[in-house]
Amino acid sequence: MKLETAKSQEASRFLPVVNRLPAIAVEGRGSRLTDADGREYIDLMAGWGVTCIGHSHPALVEAVSAQAGRLMQTTNIFYTLPQLDLIERLAELAPQAITRSFVVSTGTEAVEGALKLAHRATGRPHFVSTLNSFHGRTLGALRVTGQDKHRSIFQDLMLPSTVVPFDDLDAMRGAVDSETAAVIVEPVQGEGGVNVPRDGYLAGLREICDASGALLILDEVQTGMGRTGRMLALEHEGVTPDVITLGKGLGGGFPVAAFLTSDAVAQTVNIGDHGTTYGGNPLACAAANTVLRILTEEKLPERAARLGAQLTDHLKGFAAEHEDLVEEVRGRGLLVGLVLRDAEKCGDLVLRALDQGVIVNLTAGRVVRFFPALNIPEEDLMRGVETVLSLVVE
Ligand SMILES: Cc1ncc(COP(=O)(O)O)c(C=O)c1O
Repeated sequence: MKLETAKSQEASRFLPVVNRLPAIAVEGRGSRLTDADGREYIDLMAGWGVTCIGHSHPALVEAVSAQAGRLMQTTNIFYTLPQLDLIERLAELAPQAITRSFVVSTGTEAVEGALKLAHRATGRPHFVSTLNSFHGRTLGALRVTGQDKHRSIFQDLMLPSTVVPFDDLDAMRGAVDSETAAVIVEPVQGEGGVNVPRDGYLAGLREICDASGALLILDEVQTGMGRTGRMLALEHEGVTPDVITLGKGLGGGFPVAAFLTSDAVAQTVNIGDHGTTYGGNPLACAAANTVLRILTEEKLPERAARLGAQLTDHLKGFAAEHEDLVEEVRGRGLLVGLVLRDAEKCGDLVLRALDQGVIVNLTAGRVVRFFPALNIPEEDLMRGVETVLSLVVE
């Protein structure tokens, strides 16, 4: 199909809430995506950080196909072997005290579940989150998302919540009180511009929550599954939150997410407090089990740390040579942001990169966010990055 045909075909059919890129994606293999014209692209964005083991990893295709032929959907009314396997794996990868999980389908649903859990556990009504955070687009997740561009038009539908600057423990201390059910924070803000807090931030949040009886929710939807160089980003500080949300990379392309908690918090909910039709179905769990196996077997978190450091060094070298263009390079593992000075210059960067055969993402107006598959071949990564950098200086 030709692009023009696709455009006119969907013009009167698709809900106009997305700016499409001018390509019809038809096939993905590893870190390459092919469009309907047969053009191949290096993918430095991995479906917004989802395809962490690359597009259509053979083991994932095989596991999903085999499970699809056996059993796809049961609802949570039944025990299923893939889900038993998954909740065991999740308990193994989380800090010791985090032993329980509930499997859902999207990151935003994991956040909703986490907020409900915090309310149940504390009986309190308020939440504190951080400026420029992103936690999803349903009304609960939006309530704690610290970006007006997403919230303002739906303000009438949302309960109030408190937003404080990210990486500011004094502000957090001042905002959390005996009415706070939970503090929700991303260990590294992804959507908000790849914002990495100072060492000790997560531990500081833990102390503040402990002092007030609020829960600490770490939203690892974007930072989890090896993205920052550890299986979970919380490992960088060795902090144990009360609730962890996971999504994106967990299914490697299959919609699956989860929220994890401690036994103590889990004891505060009752049968019927939460539920889902699709969440945790055998097909989704089979996908997640395979992704977790591949991440571990192929040591992809370690690879993300190594390759991410190499990428960051390279970008820092570029930044030093182009101080007029680059404000900063920041990130952790394979979640790296190149902060450009001039937002106007960013305007068509994504389109120009696509034209040169590279898929790259721009967030927070002027942050080029690199978050490719964790197993992207080094040559692809460097070639894609070089292409983007050449467009930055153009
Ligand atoms: C930190 C974080 N939380 C939650 C979400 C929402 O996840 P989903 O789009 O799967 O609902 C996202 C999505 O970008 C995210 O980055």
